[in-house]
Amino acid sequence: MKHNLFSTEPLRQKARRTLAFLCLCLLWQVANAQEIKSPNNQLALQFALQNGGVPTYQLTYKGRPVLKPSKLGLELKNAPALLRGFTVADTQQRSFDETWQPVWGEVKSIRNHYNELAVTLTQAETQRTIRVRFRLYDDGLGFRYEFPRQPKLDYFTIKEERTEFALTGDHKAFWLPGDYDTQEYSTVTSNLSQVRGLMKAATTPNASQTPFSPTGVQTPLMLKSKDGLYINLHEAALIDYSAMHLELDDKNFVLTSHLTPDAVGDKGLIQTPANSPWRTLIVSDRAGAILESKLVLNLNEPTKYQDVSWIKPVKYVGVWWEMITGKSTWSYTNLENIKLDSVDYAKVKPNGTHGATTAHVKEYIDFAAKHGFDAVLVEGWNTGWEDWFGKHKDYVFDFVTPYPDFDVAELNRYAASKNVKLIMHHETSGSVRNYERHLEDAFQFMNKYGYNAVKTGYVGDIVPLGHHHYDQWVNNHYQYVLEKAAEHKIMVNGHEAVRPTGLARTYPNLIGNEAARGTEYEAFGGNNADHTTILPFTRLIGGPMDYTPGIFQTKVSAYNPQNTSFVHSTLARQLALYVTMYSPLQMAADLPETYNQHLDAFQFIKDVAVDWDDTKVLEAEPGDYITYARKAKGKSSWFVGSTCDEQGRTSKIDLGFLDPGKKYVATIYADAKNAHYEKNPQAYQIRKANVTNKTKLSQYCAPGGGYAISLMEAGK
Ligand code: NOJ
Ligand code: CA
Repeated sequence: MKHNLFSTEPLRQKARRTLAFLCLCLLWQVANAQEIKSPNNQLALQFALQNGGVPTYQLTYKGRPVLKPSKLGLELKNAPALLRGFTVADTQQRSFDETWQPVWGEVKSIRNHYNELAVTLTQAETQRTIRVRFRLYDDGLGFRYEFPRQPKLDYFTIKEERTEFALTGDHKAFWLPGDYDTQEYSTVTSNLSQVRGLMKAATTPNASQTPFSPTGVQTPLMLKSKDGLYINLHEAALIDYSAMHLELDDKNFVLTSHLTPDAVGDKGLIQTPANSPWRTLIVSDRAGAILESKLVLNLNEPTKYQDVSWIKPVKYVGVWWEMITGKSTWSYTNLENIKLDSVDYAKVKPNGTHGATTAHVKEYIDFAAKHGFDAVLVEGWNTGWEDWFGKHKDYVFDFVTPYPDFDVAELNRYAASKNVKLIMHHETSGSVRNYERHLEDAFQFMNKYGYNAVKTGYVGDIVPLGHHHYDQWVNNHYQYVLEKAAEHKIMVNGHEAVRPTGLARTYPNLIGNEAARGTEYEAFGGNNADHTTILPFTRLIGGPMDYTPGIFQTKVSAYNPQNTSFVHSTLARQLALYVTMYSPLQMAADLPETYNQHLDAFQFIKDVAVDWDDTKVLEAEPGDYITYARKAKGKSSWFVGSTCDEQGRTSKIDLGFLDPGKKYVATIYADAKNAHYEKNPQAYQIRKANVTNKTKLSQYCAPGGGYAISLMEAGK
């Protein structure tokens, strides 16, 4: 006889009861679950309260799980946690669709299109209310905590934010050691389960560093699942909050937010009403979609500035690489153990290696003017360079006193006469209080002499000691500098500051940031050959980087025999970086004397645009290769750049992006067949071809190489 579950009455009753219970549970779940879909229906976000009133969310892409149910909430200092005991007090849904024009950017206009779910949660026991706002875009998810003003949640201190990102498996990750003070690490590519084993070797020395965990990693974090899903995790609109890192549970592949602590270990002082930054996930089954995403920018507020006419993309050269390589010095003397305010520079003997002399800066100005650059950066122009590094000094640079051999008035007059600007440099040595002390005078000084852009720097530990480069208080400092600079119509390029989170939408005078391992490290031991195939997927997700490409003399020993470092790139790839490393601020970082020996290749740097009407990702795979095409702002010309890893490859592209019916002259700057980033970096070939939007191109890239193409409309 066939066994029948319902053949006996008691069994049937039991089954009915179980069924009824399951239905009830489901109903309860549905009552508490809220779902929204992205405008194209491919992403679905579900919010639900788990048992005990624990808020969770989960995410799917084309029906595939991206995040399993992941908990939300915060722990507070000396107050009950905002983690459980919640009921849903209200939910609101809406759709939003706008198109906006960035002041500068990769494209002329940006569509900001999302479906939103705002869930208001009440913790009855403590009479406190928070809101979680989710915005679901076609390219990903953003969500934040909102803390409305209320009697029982007026002012509080965050002990830790406990936002989970429960991944579906042991994804491949492109990660940096989690650190409260630096992002200047080489990216490690490994599975998440390997992070712990690789952490020690990955944590290379830096002038200021505070790693916090054997499985802590930074954002933007790029992930790829075994079934080919690309996921980027970061944050947007980091304002008055500490920067988020991620703590990895390497057994269950759950990432949990880990905020940067301040000098007493607190992770955020919040007065309501207030919002957290947005936590962002960009998701696609196509790598190029991660690079095309504008989600992080879209989650920032529109610009606050009425007048943006003074904000302009900049192509520059500078008295810089010669100091980085050790050919010349920032300091004017070789005095050691001096006390800055007791030195009369006019009376001491100069060291003869000072880079920023009036005569030498004039050579750079002449070079800039001759080749059509907008500006010249000059570092080491001001007193104090003998007495700062690693000293944790409070009073150090005053940002207004030039060395005796730097004639600030004459140089700005000379530059202006040649239609070139000087770029100011403020190395703060991490003494943020000292910088704020002098900031107003420093900006007035810049206004007086005609500077309109400043490169700031925060080398070394933050002073006041105990603070970290990425804590709330120091993030507020960067914000203060940015907004003060705007009052003086000054553009800012911050080095060693917190990594960007799309703030340039709101504050477009933030035209650059470092916050990663830049070209300078090619003179400090080198960057991996695949570094520039990863950065656009990681660091650049938050905003442009002042990567300072354009090094043609890849052997650093040519400038300083004692320095054996070399640039892990071919010369042709250095050209490609002007296209692949998007920035409205681009430096031609090598020395004029070197460019003068390669004027044919230098022509690409002269021609390439720094502001764009359109951008196409032609090929991309993190860690392997990236090929971009970009259309110059207001012009018919296009530029293509391709960078590849140490393997080399043949890139196949279709010029279908060109305007139909138009003829273009392509100038292709490429690796020679025998080029190699280490063995033969300067072997390049330049050839011209007539092309149209029907042309397909197959182009060799050497190991550690790449290529650059300018496409000018024929006859223009
Ligand atoms: C580190 C910066 O990244 C570099 O560009 C600068 O030259 C030095 N600090 C000195 O300020
Ligand atoms: Ca740096």
